[in-house]
Amino acid sequence: MPSPAFSTDCSSSSTARFLPFTRSSVNRSATAVFLRSPIHHVAAPPPAVSTSLKIRTFVVRSSATSSSHAASVAANDTSSSAKVIDGKLVAKQIREEIAVEVAKMKEATGVVPGLAVILVGDRKDSATYVRNKKKACDSVGIKSFEAKLPEDSTEEEVLKFISEFNNDSSVHGILVQLPLPPHMDEQKILNAVTIEKDVDGFHPLNIGRLAMRGREPLFVPCTPKGCIELLHRYGVQIKGKRAVVIGRSNIVGMPAALLLQREDATVSIVHSRTKNPEEITKQADIIISAVGQPNMVRGSWIKPGAVVIDVGINPVEDASSPRGYKLVGDVCYEEACKVASAVTPVPGGVGPMTIAMLLSNTLSSAKRVEIEWLGK
Ligand SMILES: NC(=O)c1ccc[n+]([C@@H]2O[C@H](COP(=O)([O-])OP(=O)(O)OC[C@H]3O[C@@H](n4cnc5c(N)ncnc54)[C@H](OP(=O)(O)O)[C@@H]3O)[C@@H](O)[C@H]2O)c1
Repeated sequence: MPSPAFSTDCSSSSTARFLPFTRSSVNRSATAVFLRSPIHHVAAPPPAVSTSLKIRTFVVRSSATSSSHAASVAANDTSSSAKVIDGKLVAKQIREEIAVEVAKMKEATGVVPGLAVILVGDRKDSATYVRNKKKACDSVGIKSFEAKLPEDSTEEEVLKFISEFNNDSSVHGILVQLPLPPHMDEQKILNAVTIEKDVDGFHPLNIGRLAMRGREPLFVPCTPKGCIELLHRYGVQIKGKRAVVIGRSNIVGMPAALLLQREDATVSIVHSRTKNPEEITKQADIIISAVGQPNMVRGSWIKPGAVVIDVGINPVEDASSPRGYKLVGDVCYEEACKVASAVTPVPGGVGPMTIAMLLSNTLSSAKRVEIEWLGK
């Protein structure tokens, strides 16, 4: 329950009306649409955090790309004001790095990575997400392909496009924009995407490999991959730390927990049936919250010095906004800033990372094909 110990904006969250988005459309890439400047952010690549604990500053090599920069946020830093983990800034850096790699690849091999998006129906939000993906592709030199089908299309028609993209060697990633119209079997359609082009990383084989020791998935789902990339780039040590993931969805919570475990964190998962979520969450050095409940995680849930990654994107009524609503995370940001050592804002935290990771997955897919081809 919300702690009465804090008196901030979040204490009014119970009265704020939660305006639910269509979940699956938000899941995929909604954040790109809602990018705004974070409330405040570090101006340059993450600087050292002033702290009462001794913190090591070290250079982090990105798992998604080849570049690196110095960063130092430590789980358990107990400085009084949290560093803002600026996903917008990091995503921009990653896009720049991807653009360089795409150009190099084109020069060396003539191959340009390609991403195909299938959009069925006329939903405005879905059309916006697809447009943003196309823009992101254009900005880094990835070729984008689009199949737009009317709302009343048949499953067979969608499957035909998937099959064509599966067989098209200039397409390295395929993404089906959700939600699909209700008459379609989502699972059947998603399963038709070949695992080699499953840049969303939702294929059961990819998730299975993620869960198994010694196995490597071809793709890691974009949002959890973005969360881990933020931790890496801000120099947050994961190995040996206690991590709590709030939420266990197939696309965020569960793969985020698997990724943290692969990095040798000790992981607990909190979900809707967990009896004592606050008590469990408070033990964490690293919290990843992917719940979809505005401001659920209060300052009292957070261990002093913990690092907090807020995946939630929740629209709540806001009469002062021209749109009539604003977006907030799962975590009460104002309270988290007073307790945590570092925290992601909403918007401008995890959101921008999702599309950056989609581009990264598409580039890796193209590289893999090239390496396999050279090996033949
Ligand atoms: N930034 C991004 O790019 C991005 C991407 C994807 C999603 N999101 C956002 O992340 C949030 C979660 O998305 P999702 O797709 O994972 O949602 P989801 O499929 O609805 O899953 C929500 C999870 O939260 C758990 N949960 C719900 N209420 C809870 C409570 N009161 N206490 C503890 N756990 C609770 C649910 O538990 P049960 O399993 O027990 O039902 C479930 O596992 C949403 O706000 C979404 O918009 C953002």
